[in-house]
Amino acid sequence: MNKKTASLSLEGVKDSIDLPILGGSIGPDVIDVGGLTAKGYFTFDPGFMSTASCESRITYIDGDKGVLLHRGYPIEQLAEKSDYLETCYLLLNGELPDPAQKAEFENDIRYHTMVHEKLCEFFKGFPINAHPMAIMVGVVGALSAFYHDSLDIMKEEDRRISAHRLIAKMPTIAAMCYKHAIGQPFMYPRNDFGYAENFLHMMFSTPCEAPKVSPILAKAMDTIFLLHADHEQNASTSTVRLAGSTGANPFACVSAGIAALWGPAHGGANEAVLNMLDEIGDESRIEEFIKRAKDKNDPFRLMGFGHRVYKNFDPRAKVMRKICDEVLTELGVENDPLFRIARRLEKIALEDEYFIERKLYPNVDFYSGIILKAIGIPASMFTVIFAVGRTPGWISHWNEMISNPYKIGRPRQLYTGHARRDYPGT
Ligand code: ACO
Repeated sequence: MNKKTASLSLEGVKDSIDLPILGGSIGPDVIDVGGLTAKGYFTFDPGFMSTASCESRITYIDGDKGVLLHRGYPIEQLAEKSDYLETCYLLLNGELPDPAQKAEFENDIRYHTMVHEKLCEFFKGFPINAHPMAIMVGVVGALSAFYHDSLDIMKEEDRRISAHRLIAKMPTIAAMCYKHAIGQPFMYPRNDFGYAENFLHMMFSTPCEAPKVSPILAKAMDTIFLLHADHEQNASTSTVRLAGSTGANPFACVSAGIAALWGPAHGGANEAVLNMLDEIGDESRIEEFIKRAKDKNDPFRLMGFGHRVYKNFDPRAKVMRKICDEVLTELGVENDPLFRIARRLEKIALEDEYFIERKLYPNVDFYSGIILKAIGIPASMFTVIFAVGRTPGWISHWNEMISNPYKIGRPRQLYTGHARRDYPGT
């Protein structure tokens, strides 16, 4: 037996407590503190910054080295050689599909893209100016009302079909949110289109005209989905796991994930990039905003710069930057004032001591915001697109949890309120 342990000595307590140290395949070891409760202690880690909430085999991140692996495969290789649906299959199943499995999976997703006609009526109840994420939270959760026949989460086949339904229907619902906002009829998905191509078709076609989707834009859209497909135990994925640990159905769990993603500290950053570029408004004002970003007394930050986990570079941002160039060239909008501001900002920030010292590089949101804007997608839809892309990650983590022994998630607290006291007059 060569098991590593950590020893915890507590002031005033005679014997120290031995805690097992668990090793992963790569990455830091973790101290198993599960035994502490029996000794009368909880651990305290607000924000879970030092806590591994689960064991997982899906995604590995090394923020210092700029590494992101899905099932072991580097994100750069997947972005270059794979596509979104194949990456979905990989996340869900653990291995890349062979050609027959790939074709079967694609076919299965294709034939689940339509939503129940009754679901379309839900949209009528939403005001025209409803935020699309508000609609997504409601409508995706409501999907559970349509599939009572396959919601036994203990059955592998039910989990599989729910996963496929979610991946297939998310772009359809997302595009319906957009059509609802602009007062155009919903467009049905087309089975002769690829996944991203279909999404752009449902967004931009009308019954009167179906503009041809450019392969470059469809590829860019596919890569945006792929680059967002999973990111380990982030806030929305942890929310999906926590909701799922109660035995809730996958549609309800993914709806909870969408709610968590909505916040500006998570999925809302690329929308913030666009708002910032609009606020800068003119190249002549860039210096002024850079100065503000460096000023400790000014709360302004350059949106789309820096990352909580990636401290040297974000591997997804590198891929996204290349696509950004291709899309702007394809659309012939390189000289659009907004994109010129973005380019200047990127250059100045990359050369400026303040940003270099603090390792503040443009992140994935900086480029994805620019690409989506160039494609003609309004900023209010950006987080929705993030949600579409992240769906296989959410559902893979949920499935991984349900297929293994798990407990209901129930954190404890450090209570600092009143001790017991009597109601007045008692
Ligand atoms: N603009 C200007 N200064 C910045 C920025 C920025 N975008 N980000 C960090 N800094 C500065 C801080 O003021 C701090 O300076 P100091 O050391 O002189 O005090 C230093 O860099 C470190 O900043 P922290 O806030 O400690 O970095 P942290 O890792 O906690 O924050 C975060 C990361 C939240 C992403 C931050 O960089 C930020 O607010 N960026 C802008 C918002 C954004 O783009 N978010 C999307 C992240 S990507 C994603 O979620 C997929």
